[in-house]
Amino acid sequence: MTVDFSDLQTQAKAVKSRRITDLFTQDPKRAQEFSTRIPSDGGEMLFDFSKTNIDAATMEMLLALARNANLPERRSAMFTGEAINETEGRAVLHTALRNLANRPIYVNDENVMPGVLATLARMEAFASDVRRGTFQGQGGKITDVINIGIGGSDLGPVMATIAMAPFHDGPRIHYVSNVDGAHISDVLEGLNAETTLVLVASKTFTTIETMTNAQTARDWMAKTVSDSAAQFAALSSAEEKTGAFGIPPNRVFGFEDWVGGRYSIWGPIGLPLMIAIGADNFHEFLSGAEAMDRHFCEADLAENLPVLLALVGIWHNQGCGYATRAVLPYEQRLLRLPAYLQQLEMESNGKSVAMDGSRLDAPSGPVVWGEPGTNGQHAFYQLIHQGTRVIPCEFMAGKHGFEPELAHQHRLLMANCLAQSEALMIGRSFNEAKALMTVKGLTGTERDRQARHRVFDGNRPSTTLIYPKLTPCVLGQIIALYEHRVFVEGVILGLNSFDQWGVELGKELAVALEPIVAGREPADSKDGSTQMLVQFILAD
Ligand code: F6P
Repeated sequence: MTVDFSDLQTQAKAVKSRRITDLFTQDPKRAQEFSTRIPSDGGEMLFDFSKTNIDAATMEMLLALARNANLPERRSAMFTGEAINETEGRAVLHTALRNLANRPIYVNDENVMPGVLATLARMEAFASDVRRGTFQGQGGKITDVINIGIGGSDLGPVMATIAMAPFHDGPRIHYVSNVDGAHISDVLEGLNAETTLVLVASKTFTTIETMTNAQTARDWMAKTVSDSAAQFAALSSAEEKTGAFGIPPNRVFGFEDWVGGRYSIWGPIGLPLMIAIGADNFHEFLSGAEAMDRHFCEADLAENLPVLLALVGIWHNQGCGYATRAVLPYEQRLLRLPAYLQQLEMESNGKSVAMDGSRLDAPSGPVVWGEPGTNGQHAFYQLIHQGTRVIPCEFMAGKHGFEPELAHQHRLLMANCLAQSEALMIGRSFNEAKALMTVKGLTGTERDRQARHRVFDGNRPSTTLIYPKLTPCVLGQIIALYEHRVFVEGVILGLNSFDQWGVELGKELAVALEPIVAGREPADSKDGSTQMLVQFILAD
């Protein structure tokens, strides 16, 4: 079957208004048929997409779209090291960083695995030295680690460090990313430089925010530590630049150009996480991702978790025209997952040009946003339930928490998660709302007026991912799941998910604006608005 986006849109128009609840009535096995389970750490992971408007015919179309885009071939091109990042002429091999099976992977006829495993071993040795106190600061054992990085050199490790709190048994880990001096200033406040290790995480070692913060940290360190570079390490591919900063090669952990920034948590950029949770737990984290890689490569497309998640995404965005999606973890420790996914998804698929240089013939990837439940319920869920736009929701939750003494709170959390997807789907009709108002003693027009405000259209789609418990292995699985989902959506859209030219223009203009904002150069070359803003900033 040959399917294109306009076929998908026609199908969406035809079925969009039917009730999802009717699909359950027509097919008592719908929940089983529109869900999939895969083995996970200590149990199974269940992905339920039955609370969407997708039926068997739609799924066939979506699968055909994936096959038409040569998904299996593109997947194997990625895993075998072909230069699929064509605009940068690079392979895409973050999967090599978690290839614990040590399957040979060749780039330019060279097996990359010996290098990957050697770097992993160096990271493990360094993390263990820091954790045991073999590597010391001027004041003795390291108590605090500051990771300075931004984007992919920050969001993944921050998200995972928070997520893995129950496994922390190393020094405290802090993150600085923003060039706003407030960020580093707040982090340094109260830290003892003599027992602090600074990791400068930057693939290129040129990112202005990171280099500025690194220099600030260095100046702070120099006030009390005699060799101010001795408590610095670098997570970077740019050995010359790290050397010029004063960090010797034995404290530089490098990675190749085939690891994109937002896909880099599995290697040196994951060092702060490894220092927090130890090498064994980090190994578990990698093994979870490796298991997801195996599943992605081996499972039939119709049973394939990343593929299904991507197809649901394509259906909602490119088919139904829902421009955003909310990611709603019912897991407080996944607090930063939405921010992490914003970079992963929007930097990867936020593009309007296809691989061949033509304009995309469908909308680009969606706007991704979210917050953990139940907090979000008391903030933006009002709009999700009763606003005029449909926002597909992606719920996720662990079957178990880490606080057995608070099991009653976990049950409440789960009840809330399930209640939200149920409410989104079933809604509340005018008649039901009227009946509620009657019970409250209202009658006539006042009852009807009040009832109208209490109507929920329902029929709003959502998916739910339930995993056993948020262990390092499960976290690795979840992140790899989303990475592959982004890849599949990118393949179907026909774009390159692995470049990020869209961040360049702003960076260039910021460099040119700095002397203007500092008052050293005139603003005359700028547009009227920018000139006025500069004048306003400079006037005192
Ligand atoms: O924001 C653009 C970007 O290149 C991201 O892709 C990357 O994660 C981030 O900047 C940081 O880059 P670096 O690790 O080189 O400092």
